[in-house]
Amino acid sequence: MSRESFDVLIVGSGAAGLTAALNLAATRKVAVLSKGELGGGATEWAQGGIAAVLEEGDSFESHVRDTMIAGAGLNNLAVVEHVVSEAPAAIARLTELGVPFATEGGDLHLTREGGHSHRRIVHVADATGWAIQQALEKAAVAHPNITIIPDRVAIDLVTGRHAREFSTSGAVHGVYALNRGTKKVDVLTARATVLATGGAGRTYLYSTAPRGATGDGIAMAWRAGCRISNMEFMQFHPTCLYNLEVKNFLITEAVRGEGGILKNPKTGERFMPAYDERAELAPRDIVARAIDSEIKRDGLDYVWLDISHREPEFVKAHFPNIYEKLIGLGIDITREPIPVVPAQHYTCGGVLVDLDGRTDAPGLYAAGEVTQSGLHGANRLASNSLLECLVFGEGAARHIDAHWDSLPEPPPIRAWDESRVADSDEEVVIAQTWGEIRRFMWNYVGIVRTTKRLERAKHRIDLLRQEVADYYGHFRVTPDLIELRNLVEVADLIVRSALSRHESRGLHYTLDYPRMADKAVDTVLVP
Ligand code: FAD
Ligand code: SIN
Repeated sequence: MSRESFDVLIVGSGAAGLTAALNLAATRKVAVLSKGELGGGATEWAQGGIAAVLEEGDSFESHVRDTMIAGAGLNNLAVVEHVVSEAPAAIARLTELGVPFATEGGDLHLTREGGHSHRRIVHVADATGWAIQQALEKAAVAHPNITIIPDRVAIDLVTGRHAREFSTSGAVHGVYALNRGTKKVDVLTARATVLATGGAGRTYLYSTAPRGATGDGIAMAWRAGCRISNMEFMQFHPTCLYNLEVKNFLITEAVRGEGGILKNPKTGERFMPAYDERAELAPRDIVARAIDSEIKRDGLDYVWLDISHREPEFVKAHFPNIYEKLIGLGIDITREPIPVVPAQHYTCGGVLVDLDGRTDAPGLYAAGEVTQSGLHGANRLASNSLLECLVFGEGAARHIDAHWDSLPEPPPIRAWDESRVADSDEEVVIAQTWGEIRRFMWNYVGIVRTTKRLERAKHRIDLLRQEVADYYGHFRVTPDLIELRNLVEVADLIVRSALSRHESRGLHYTLDYPRMADKAVDTVLVP
């Protein structure tokens, strides 16, 4: 076992984590952990872009209004105003770092996405996240004050309870993390720890999120005593490619923004105008529910997304990666429609933070998809997420720096105790449980819910939690076991939150409470 100490420890190397690191590195020694390679999070997979008010005639008020309309009134207005007003400067900083945003006639090219009343999305063709991740990584790797530590899987936050001199202060002093190389658990300590671990999409069978989106940060913060909020608001993206081999390839919302039309393959008819006056450009909860309803009513496997009426050169220039990927699968999107289905895409809920990214635990901050900051409310507006990572990553860094003297030096911490565990003799339990959770979450806690289905899911979770806790208590940790323990914890938080909301609002739609309540109230779970 090794021990390492830094000024600030950042768990996660996506847009939120690297932004926080770059904003701290001028004054602090920072370590950035990732559980695999640096670009293994959702950031690298982002397609559409980042929302910012840059078009003539657009305004902050309009971006705020669109965000609140999508969020079904549950957003925190002060947070929305703060993030929206910071957006143009955040884009300018990424440009300075070398992100080659698309331009037209010397200005940034702005595309359109659902729920936005203006062209507002800056992008790098249809691979915006990849370009952002490259630029942030390059700057972080080059910085002498930033230590990059890939292949370390954080297991739990280190608190006063792990100190040699036991304390119940609740303060966080770092993490225990499994080193994939040595297979040992290390202690990494710091005066401040930032969780930037991304979302929990892999709680669901079908998700556009990367393999590592297992809600680790949410589960770790919960175990360390932090409140978790709004976990029932799981966002389903309307248009994930339907393909039996490629299970989680996103077809960006910008395809609809540039004129893509949704059609029922049985009738060949466009169906969105019958569901919402904004048609294909309605917020994604509405579009996803409409597709779900067409699929269920007509017994379909998928619906069509058709952009073939636009000029082939336009389609290839705007969506080069999607074009190439689908040509490889035998679909020419300039000539034929794309089969699509909704899939889990984004975790709106998470660790409750304030405007400075502070959690309930002293010394613990959080930024990005792991949080519930008040920005998204009951449904995130498209392309507001990368923006949240940039604004809160920087905000947390600023707060840490400004309050440095009040952050205590970490006390001596006990080593990880492996004296009572053995190597696992039944790895099959992990794969079986993982598959079970993801399947019943998809079937019982999906786009349309009922109390009965949620209760069914809860019974299964209660049983599996016991089994996983028992397994965890007896066997040496592996990356899969760490993730499974978090997955079952997060599934429980999602179902408990969904059961406690007796209304339909934003992404939470239940047949038992189809109306929206008069008052918008956050769901807050207290450990
Ligand atoms: P991530 O980028 O997900 O990074 C998480 C990091 O945490 C990783 O480095 C991971 O290794 C690390 N980590 C996790 N657990 C542990 C652990 N236990 N120990 C150590 N490290 C850990 N949003 C937009 O605004 N615009 C878009 O166009 C857009 N397109 C998207 C397309 C797809 C396919 C997907 C899936 C999402 C998209 N989103 C988009 C959402 C957006 O990409 C994410 O919300 C955002 O990138 C999250 O960034 P993050 O920094 O919070 O986390
Ligand atoms: C997309 O490109 O459709 C994803 C945008 C987002 O998730 O914000």
